[in-house]
Amino acid sequence: MTSNARVVFAKRPASNELPKVGEHLIIDKSRTIDLDHVPLNGGYLTKTLILSPEPAIRERMRDPSITSYTTTLTVGGPILGFAVVVVLRSEKEGFKVGDNLYGLTVWEEYTVQPYVEGRVNFKPEEWPPYTFDMDSLALQVVPNPNGLYPLSKYTSIMGTPGLTAFVGMEGIIEGKEGDTLFVSSGDLLMVIQLGKLKGMKVIASAGSDAKVEYMKSVGADLAFNYKKENYGEFLLKHGPINAFWDNVGGEALDAALESITPYGKVAVCGTSASDVTPTSEQYKLKNAYLIMKKRIKIQGFIVPDFIPQFMGKFFETVPALMAQGKLKSQEIEIEGFENAPQALVDTLCSGHEKAGTLVVVVAKE
Ligand SMILES: NC(=O)c1ccc[n+]([C@@H]2O[C@H](COP(=O)([O-])OP(=O)(O)OC[C@H]3O[C@@H](n4cnc5c(N)ncnc54)[C@H](OP(=O)(O)O)[C@@H]3O)[C@@H](O)[C@H]2O)c1
Repeated sequence: MTSNARVVFAKRPASNELPKVGEHLIIDKSRTIDLDHVPLNGGYLTKTLILSPEPAIRERMRDPSITSYTTTLTVGGPILGFAVVVVLRSEKEGFKVGDNLYGLTVWEEYTVQPYVEGRVNFKPEEWPPYTFDMDSLALQVVPNPNGLYPLSKYTSIMGTPGLTAFVGMEGIIEGKEGDTLFVSSGDLLMVIQLGKLKGMKVIASAGSDAKVEYMKSVGADLAFNYKKENYGEFLLKHGPINAFWDNVGGEALDAALESITPYGKVAVCGTSASDVTPTSEQYKLKNAYLIMKKRIKIQGFIVPDFIPQFMGKFFETVPALMAQGKLKSQEIEIEGFENAPQALVDTLCSGHEKAGTLVVVVAKE
């Protein structure tokens, strides 16, 4: 028997509370699995290689009575998140031993797929009309990089962080030569680079000096530490902007609304500034009235909204740009399954110094 640790979602954090390792997220090392004989029932057995800690997992920890864009996680069940896995055994057509897959899975070392535990039996009529069934983001076979790039690229530039940037830039921002794009804190690398490839001037904000330097090194024309410089003052000095990619909301959005030109475009991707802030302390917009006056086009989105339209183009464009050295990414590799819960918490906090996409390396092969 082989040990099969998993991350358990032990308790819901209170609304807007940061989850704590050991209280809300627990590593359960009590489980074992017989890798040679565990029944597959027509499915396949995977070994987890890389986990992708992402803020969307926090959204799934909310109480189901709180409306949002995703289905929720089950208390006592496993954490589900994006990962790269390798197939160890298979009874399912299309999934061969040795295939690498990327998609949603149980955060555990080995899993019989398709996973059952934690999966929501999604009935649309039981959820608000715009709820997305996260479990539908099933594991898909990805090309073997054959040593050309590390597998962790599938959890960064070639995974949801890269795809998010690509579809949002194609579907909302569009952008043209000479436009100025402002991007607020988050996994900004791809947004900055796509903006530059479109000929835009790019301004980025981040919560540490190391991240600011990193944003400049990947092409941002200007970058600032929003903890040292005021969003509004910086944008009024260096703007106007024509487009805003917002990962944060609050003050950043308010400042962008003030600095954006008439008919400017805003892609609302995330709300990091308020995700773990008590409602009473959340920043209230002062400049929302400008949306009509300046005819600003503002659109919130989640990646699946644009998958039918832009997924094909993403796979035609991004690997080719990577091969030509025109798109770069940086992964911060955290070694060891036991560090996955803390890595997840870190994606929800501002100011961890290192810049890049956090990935948790569970096993090399
Ligand atoms: N719409 C979609 O389909 C989609 C897809 C992916 C992600 N998202 C959302 O986009 C946002 C960013 O995701 P990501 O994967 O890019 O994040 P990420 O790389 O994990 O980074 C989150 C960052 O948010 C920043 N942050 C945290 N608290 C903040 C605060 N109070 N004020 C300003 N910044 C704060 C921190 O950066 P600093 O150190 O710079 O402060 C943190 O590193 C999240 O809200 C996520 O849920 C949406």
